[in-house]
Amino acid sequence: MVTALAACGGDGGAGSGSGNDDGKITLGFAQVGAESGWRTANTKSIQDSAKEAGIDLQFSDAQQKQENQIKAIRSYITQKVDVIAFSPVVESGWDTVLREAKDAKIPVILTDRAIDSPDKTLYKTFIGSDFVLEGKKAGEWLVAEYEGKTEPVNIVELQGSTGSAPANDRKAGFADVIKADPKFKVIASQTGEFTRAKGKEVMDAFLKAHKDIDVLYAHNDDMGLGAIEAIEGAGLKPGVDIKIITVDAVKDGMQALADGKINFIVECSPLLGPQLMELVKKVVAGETVPERVVTEETTFTQEQAKAALPNRQY
Ligand code: AHR
Repeated sequence: MVTALAACGGDGGAGSGSGNDDGKITLGFAQVGAESGWRTANTKSIQDSAKEAGIDLQFSDAQQKQENQIKAIRSYITQKVDVIAFSPVVESGWDTVLREAKDAKIPVILTDRAIDSPDKTLYKTFIGSDFVLEGKKAGEWLVAEYEGKTEPVNIVELQGSTGSAPANDRKAGFADVIKADPKFKVIASQTGEFTRAKGKEVMDAFLKAHKDIDVLYAHNDDMGLGAIEAIEGAGLKPGVDIKIITVDAVKDGMQALADGKINFIVECSPLLGPQLMELVKKVVAGETVPERVVTEETTFTQEQAKAALPNRQY
């Protein structure tokens, strides 16, 4: 589910236009990579909905590297695709390539992650989650969980990929909520690059360095799942000896939540494909599109995960 905010003008529509003789719209999509269950579901959503919408999709995987994404965008400009969409690996450093797309009159749509450029004319719209809100929801659960307790609560944090919007914003939203109570202390915070393997590796190191961890806040399910392996390997019970909060709510994360190994998950929906294809068609037709489309999301406790699991799509 997505909600549209603040409409902005539909100046110009598509650029030099249809590289396709069959009249189909060509969309060049530069994906972040395949780092997590969320990303796999997001890629599937984009590929399935492009097919459904009759849009010719040119797809590339940047393997979490900005330089690969910039190369892919440049190749879409050379190919004269109708629209370029991408999920930026990091927030900074996009102005030059996006100006090249603008000069070539190829409209750009940001999906999933924002960029920090002050020049809002470099893209038509941005569809994705409110990551600060996700971090706040994680913090609010923690505050409620420890309500009335006075002893210190030692938290370790597994951050997403360094410099990415979800890592920056989930950290900021969480910190903003817990700062009101000095008993919450983030005793270690490091990137786990949104992957299971790195989540395990960093949690192993956290466990060696700190004997008194009460809570793990992981910026996605995959890092949380890797950390669970590390916690079990250290002879501790995830969800009991160390409480765990994650973000995403992919099936594996939801299963761990239902099994009592995770305590709370903040949802981040990867199913952006259908809405993206609608936006692509509107941009090509020169119609007005909203400047921001925010994904609507919920949260899950262990009981709610048990109820939701049988119908979980991803
Ligand atoms: O940008 C969305 C984030 O990227 C997801 O929360 C994470 O799992 C993914 O890798």
